[in-house]
Amino acid sequence: MASKKLLEMLNEAIARELQVSIQYMWQHVRIAGPHAAAIGPIFRSIAITEMKHAEAIAERVDYLGGVPTTKPAPITVGEEWQEMLRLDLKAEEEAIAMYKEIIALAEKEGDITTAHMFRSILEDEEEHHNEFGTLLQEAGAEAAERPKRRAARARARARR
Ligand SMILES: [Fe+2]
Ligand SMILES: [Fe+2]
Repeated sequence: MASKKLLEMLNEAIARELQVSIQYMWQHVRIAGPHAAAIGPIFRSIAITEMKHAEAIAERVDYLGGVPTTKPAPITVGEEWQEMLRLDLKAEEEAIAMYKEIIALAEKEGDITTAHMFRSILEDEEEHHNEFGTLLQEAGAEAAERPKRRAARARARARR
């Protein structure tokens, strides 16, 4: 049977999954500006994956004799898209660290199924981490190009 500690960590994982599923979905709703069309649907699709993680972990807690929490960890939507991506990058980093701990503890307790489930979830979180990081870099690089292009146009005008 799962230890109290493992059940507590699983419920903490559910709280995080509920948090990010709402956080990312609301970012999809609230993102504005030139990157909204590109980034918005990614927030939405990852939000749905996170809710599926919450469901899978809740099923596991129920099977192990615990009661799955309904309370999300604190949600931080952010205002502009860079801030949103930075918040999400951090959330994924924290999830990755925590899920590695869950895998180690589940293995120690001989709970192969929980360890296996979190390996698969961990793979998704690393993908999300990579996706948010890439978006932040790409959009950031493009934004950095804009003043340079403006300066080049100003120089061209000055020469006329
Ligand atoms: Fe997740
Ligand atoms: Fe994630």
